[in-house]
Amino acid sequence: MSTVVAIDGPAGAGKSTVARRLAERLGYAYINTGSLYRALAFAAKSSGIAFSEIDAGFLNRCELEFRGADLYLNGCKLGDELRAPECAQGASVISGNPLVRDYLMPVQRNSANGQWIVMEGRDIGTVVFPDAEKKFFVTASPEERARRRMAQSSEVAADATFESILADIIARDERDSKRAIAPLKQAADAVLVDTTGMSIDEVVEYIAEMCR
Ligand code: DC
Repeated sequence: MSTVVAIDGPAGAGKSTVARRLAERLGYAYINTGSLYRALAFAAKSSGIAFSEIDAGFLNRCELEFRGADLYLNGCKLGDELRAPECAQGASVISGNPLVRDYLMPVQRNSANGQWIVMEGRDIGTVVFPDAEKKFFVTASPEERARRRMAQSSEVAADATFESILADIIARDERDSKRAIAPLKQAADAVLVDTTGMSIDEVVEYIAEMCR
């Protein structure tokens, strides 16, 4: 049986860095589930398929597998291409498709594979692992998240401004939290961690302490 620490929260809250560092700190495996949605958006874009046209046939041609924390699509390792802004927006759009969510559910559950694991996403504590041992909902104000995004040059378009990044974050929050299936929301038994004004080290320390 797996022991899961679920880290959920909105875009740009620093979840990935926190979850990766927390996993290192605890000696647990680390899985970033957003990369699965990004990988499907990337695959659709690469094959010229509109995000709205993703169907079972397309999904069956996409074999996704984690080897450690690395994600492979049909045997090819994916990396920085997933961080592109169009993959982020595409992932958010396709994540409202029930076929996509059903398709990714076993991939996520199997990736835990009996390990001690930190798994990060939007619905880990609510849907994927509702019985996770520890659940955290990591967030920050939209302005703080936009400032942090702006500092990550690989994640923003070359002509992006603070205002355009903030508008993207608000649009993703809206889509992620309003979708009909598995919307982004804090699990009733999750600890809320508002990281506004906190450093990454402080957040990791705080969560690690609660996992001990
Ligand atoms: O965490 P991220 O920014 O890489 O996620 C990209 C998108 O994928 C996000 O906007 C919503 C979707 N997602 C989801 O619906 N459920 C998850 N568990 C993880 C991500």
